[in-house]
Amino acid sequence: MSDVTATKPAPAAKGMAGMVISDSSISFVDGAAGILEYRGHDIRQLAEHSSFEEVAYLLWNGHLPTAAELEEMRMESRSCRPLPGEIVTILRQLPNDASPTAVMRSSISILAHYDPESEDNSPAANRRKACRLLGQIAAVLAHFERIRNGHYPIEQRADLDHAANFLWMLNGAEPDPMAAKALDQYLLLLADHEFNASTFAARVTASTDSDLHSAITSAMGTLKGPLHGAAVQEAMVQFLEIGESSNVEPWFIKGKTTGRRVMGIGHRVYKVRDPRAEPLVHNLEMLVNATGERQWFDIARRLEEIAKEDPYFRDRNLSANVDFYSAPLLYSLGIPVDTFTCMFAMSRIVGWTAHVFEQMADNRLIRPQSNYVGPHDLPWVPIEERG
Ligand code: CMC
Repeated sequence: MSDVTATKPAPAAKGMAGMVISDSSISFVDGAAGILEYRGHDIRQLAEHSSFEEVAYLLWNGHLPTAAELEEMRMESRSCRPLPGEIVTILRQLPNDASPTAVMRSSISILAHYDPESEDNSPAANRRKACRLLGQIAAVLAHFERIRNGHYPIEQRADLDHAANFLWMLNGAEPDPMAAKALDQYLLLLADHEFNASTFAARVTASTDSDLHSAITSAMGTLKGPLHGAAVQEAMVQFLEIGESSNVEPWFIKGKTTGRRVMGIGHRVYKVRDPRAEPLVHNLEMLVNATGERQWFDIARRLEEIAKEDPYFRDRNLSANVDFYSAPLLYSLGIPVDTFTCMFAMSRIVGWTAHVFEQMADNRLIRPQSNYVGPHDLPWVPIEERG
């Protein structure tokens, strides 16, 4: 038998846990201390003082914008929000019960056919395409949501920022300023998170010298899984199933006996509470205080407390991740539960595209190897003799 494996390095831990893949100057995560920075700026500080549009500028350009730079980016992004008419026609033809996440994945791919620069990988073209995709995927979601409910799509309003415009396109009503602010903060908080699975997928695709739309399509397909971007939907499904605060404890105990995972809890990198949880809680608290509808917030709080005290969760350092409070926040904003993963994508599109820029600026094909554990040197058996 040939000794092929002897020439290979030792395999990485399962799921590439703990592996550092390459340098990046986009975001910094300290999982033990619970720190997240975008381009050197602490996420909590950005959540307090900044906006999603400003953070998009920061992630794409590496520095916070001046007032003039921000205005220029706002004008550009607002002018490229509308969807090509052909895409709206396609959205009308899709089954109403299609998964919104799958609709967004397909739409990103189809948008490439209508983008005049889809095959141009120059930094300037990529930057323009990223700006178009930012506006377009928000329109895809708002339009599909309205179409599947039998309503006409609503055109964007250039006088509104990204979050407020989305609520406008979704509901066709003047967005409530507090709701728009809470959504803006949500988008800001999820905009990037170093080499998470979907970002890594985008970078792998970009590393083949493919194109931006292909990289973002890969990312969107990767975000769709419940261990990653669909966890936010699953977290809300679990809160709805719990129904009221008094049910949290029996629900938790029953889940432990069946080995069910608590969605919105646990993280590959954070071994403490996710630093994005606190600003999300802050916004959620403002919303529920204004509406008086505390039910989902109270359930989430109680579930977090119980998990924190539980030895199984404590021993494994399992704490609330970003999805845990994103779920009741989005629900309080009236966003349909099956579109929560698309809301995540509406934010993460900024990080994904920033990572594609970075990958393409200093590229080397990402091509790891496997640790082959199958047989070697098998004899050839003619087909009629196999069985
Ligand atoms: N509930 C119960 N047990 C859990 C959970 C959970 N949510 N998460 C991990 N564990 C246990 C797991 O069973 C394992 O136990 P043992 O050592 O006895 O086998 C241990 O903790 C380690 O789990 P793991 O699956 O090896 O850890 P991982 O780093 O591969 O997975 C994770 C991280 C996020 C996939 C996982 O914590 C999980 O499934 N959480 C629920 C889904 C979720 O909320 N995902 C969103 C992640 S954050 C945002 C994003 O990336 O989109």
